[in-house]
Amino acid sequence: MYASSASNGVRDRLRLFSGRAHGGLAKEIADRLGVSLGSMHVRQFPDTETKVQIEESVREADIFIVQPTCPPVNENLMELLVMLDAFRRASAASVTAVVPYFGYAKQDRKSTGREPISARLVADILTSAGANRVISVDLHVAQIQGFFAIPMDHLTALTTIASYLRTKDLSNAVIVSPDVGRVKLAEKYGELLNLPIALMHKRRSGDGTSPEVVGIVGDVEGKTPIIVDDMISTGGTIRNSAQALVDAGSDPCYIAATHGVLIGEAMTRLNAECVREVIVTNTVPVPAEKLVELPKLHVLSIAGLLSDVIGRIHRGDSVSEVFNQQQLNIPV
Ligand code: R5P
Repeated sequence: MYASSASNGVRDRLRLFSGRAHGGLAKEIADRLGVSLGSMHVRQFPDTETKVQIEESVREADIFIVQPTCPPVNENLMELLVMLDAFRRASAASVTAVVPYFGYAKQDRKSTGREPISARLVADILTSAGANRVISVDLHVAQIQGFFAIPMDHLTALTTIASYLRTKDLSNAVIVSPDVGRVKLAEKYGELLNLPIALMHKRRSGDGTSPEVVGIVGDVEGKTPIIVDDMISTGGTIRNSAQALVDAGSDPCYIAATHGVLIGEAMTRLNAECVREVIVTNTVPVPAEKLVELPKLHVLSIAGLLSDVIGRIHRGDSVSEVFNQQQLNIPV
């Protein structure tokens, strides 16, 4: 437990603040750490500019700001930037941006000429705005860590999701990677749950539509697939995967993804017979209406992992130990 008053020594220098993107997650983390959320007024001017006012002294404090850059991505990102600037100018000892979902992560390279590498740009502007450290969960590709010249703790929801999956009957299950990019993730799930893996071969048309499934490598007939991915956005990719598996003779699929962005037609697409259950975490807020609309949607909390890591960083303890304890050899 951390005391929240500023008068009792080094522990009190941990201060947790929240932007407007995901107050629920920030509150859960604060409760687990035993601190109160810091007081800050964030508002929008009529011309849509964002204004931030920190309402307490943060001099020499270790600041952690919880703000996933989920939709509306640009608004949440800009809000994070002005918060970082405010804390830096208020003489905080350190400022850590806790960004459980890192928007712009998919733009991590040029896929054709004359394109930006926006993930790198975001890493640069977070640093220039005043972040001394960034914490994120299941980046679209792990190499984004290298876009930062400051410490970046890349966490994973793998064990959170795997623990939940262990409560299911997995006797006939197979982990499925929806494309070649997720094979390593599927292997990790396979190791943790002692399950075989299968791989889907997809072709992208490049016109922004969901990729087409052209083949399945591995045995899925008569099995219960668990499709693992980093995110579900419009649900097109995962729904096509689930349908292709059922067409190949599998049972309806479990879908497990860290980030439930769930925009556009996602809810309708996931409400299909080929989908048995959809498991996501709360790196992105999932409003209660979505749970009503899609009763087979299950949201797991990532607050335990984040509060553990925030406490460790503040105390100067090892973060890698979290993964060693979870039997994951993931460099952070
Ligand atoms: C793709 O590379 C990602 O891992 C996800 O599969 C994709 O972003 C999901 O997007 P959507 O749900 O819109 O198909």
